[in-house]
Amino acid sequence: YVIGIDLGTSAVKVLLVNQEGTVCFEVSKEYPLIQLQSGFSEQDPEEWVKQTISALKDLVNRAGVSAEDIEGISYSGQMHGLVLLDARNQVLRNAILWNDTRTTKQCKQITDTLGEKLITITKNIPLEGFTLPKLLWVKENEPDLFGKAVTLLLPKDYLRFRMTGSLAMDYSDAAGTLLLDVSSGAWSTEICEMLDIPITLCPPLVDSFDMVGTLLPGVAREIGLSGSTKVFAGGADNACGAIGAGILSDGDTMCSIGTSGVVLSYEDNKNREFHGKVHFFNHAKGSAYYTMGVTLAAGFSLSWFKSTFANEESYENLLSDLGKSPVGARGLIFTPYLVGERTPHADAMIRGSFVGIDANHQRADFTRAVIEGITFSLQESIEIFRRERKEIHRIISIGGGAKSDDWLQIQADIFNATVLKLENEQGPGMGAAMLAAYGCGWFDSLEACAQEFTRVIKEFQPNKENVGQYEELYSVYKEIYPATQSVS
Ligand code: XUL
Repeated sequence: YVIGIDLGTSAVKVLLVNQEGTVCFEVSKEYPLIQLQSGFSEQDPEEWVKQTISALKDLVNRAGVSAEDIEGISYSGQMHGLVLLDARNQVLRNAILWNDTRTTKQCKQITDTLGEKLITITKNIPLEGFTLPKLLWVKENEPDLFGKAVTLLLPKDYLRFRMTGSLAMDYSDAAGTLLLDVSSGAWSTEICEMLDIPITLCPPLVDSFDMVGTLLPGVAREIGLSGSTKVFAGGADNACGAIGAGILSDGDTMCSIGTSGVVLSYEDNKNREFHGKVHFFNHAKGSAYYTMGVTLAAGFSLSWFKSTFANEESYENLLSDLGKSPVGARGLIFTPYLVGERTPHADAMIRGSFVGIDANHQRADFTRAVIEGITFSLQESIEIFRRERKEIHRIISIGGGAKSDDWLQIQADIFNATVLKLENEQGPGMGAAMLAAYGCGWFDSLEACAQEFTRVIKEFQPNKENVGQYEELYSVYKEIYPATQSVS
C-alpha cells in the first residue's frame, strides 16, 4: 500500500491505496481558517501537523492492514501559502494562504521593480495569492519577524518537514512562489537580488517523486507506522490533481472544481508563451509543465450560496434544482467574484453579482445561475487556451463539480467539449498516492501508473442546441465584469 496525503484549505484527507489503485480506506480531518480582517486568510501550521497525524493514526488503526505493508507516503498541498521558519526551524507566524488578498501593494511593487523580467523568468504575473507578494508583505509590515526568517516553505513542505526532519520543496509547488526560474528549474538570484530577499530562504529543490527520507522515529511510533516507510516529496494540489486524472501528455486537459476552480492543460514546451494570461507552472511529472486558469470562488460560490440560502439542505438536494430551471436560468446570470478573481481579470477588488433578477425567479433559477456562472468563469480560461491555439476537445472533470451529472452536462455544453468523469475519482490525494507508488518502483512511469489507476466511466457530449444558447449567454456574462468593476 501507499498513502496519499492531501493538505487542503479546509481539511486534510489521507488515502490508503493498493497496487490496483483502489482506495481501501480514507480519513479526513478539518482545521479552521483564521480571518482576522477582510481579505486576510491564515492558518496555524501546527493544526496541519496535528490533524494529519491524527488522521494517519485513525487510518493505520482502522484500515486493518499491517503497518509493514505500507511502503510509501507522499503529499499534495494547497499552493502558495507562506510558512516562515527561524534558525531553529520554529514557525515564526501563522501561514498566509493562497486565498489571502492583502498584497495588492506588493504585487505593484514587484511589477514596478521587475517589469517584464518577471514574466521572462517565472512565466507568470504577480497575483495576490502567490508567495512572493506575501513574503514582501511580511518584510514591510513585520520587519523584526522577517529578520529572523531563515527558511521559506509551502504548506505541505512544512508538514513533510515535521514528519521527516528534511527541508525541501518540489518544483511544482516552487513554481507558485514567483521565485523560481520556471524553465531552468532554479531559484532566481535575479528576483531575490532585485527585491532584496536572501536567496538562502529558499530550500533545496527536489522532484515530486524523489524520496526525501523516512519517517522520524517519534512520528512513526505515534502513527503506528514502520520507521522505514519511504517519504516522497509530493506536489502542488493542482499538479497532483492532474496526475490523479492522468493529465500526462500534450492536449490533456482537466477541470477541477473544489473551493477554487481550475482549468489545467498539460504543456511539454517550456518556451510556449501565454504572456501571464494563464499561470504556467512546472508539473509534478518532472520536465513537464502545465498552464492553468483559476476561478477563486468556484465550489466556494456554491457553498456560500448553500450556507446562506439553503443551509439545511444536502448538496444533492440543492443540485436537483438544476433539473427545475432551464438552460440560462430564465435570464438570471451570476458572476462568481465573491473574493475577487484571478483568470482572466486578475482583480482582487471585484465582487460578484446576480444580474437580471425577475419577480418570477425561483430558488432553482438562482442555483442554476450560480452553477452556470462558475462554469462561464472557467470557460474564460478555456477561451484563452483556444485563442493561443491549444486544442481542447476532451476535458477530464474532477472535484466537487464532477459529482453531479447535471453539472457535468452543463460543463460539456458551456466548454463545447466532451467532458469525462472518472471512476472513484479522488482528486489530488490520489495524485499524491501515485507519486508514492511510482517512487516505490511499482511502475516504470507515471503514465503506466495512471493507466492502471485511472478509469473513465462516463462521457458527456456537448448538446448542439445548448451550446448555441450558452454562447449567447456567455457573451452577456463577459459584459458584466467591466460593467460592475467601478461599483465593486
Ligand atoms: C492555484 C491556487 C489554488 C490552490 C488551492 O494557483 O491558488 O488552486 O492551490 O489549494
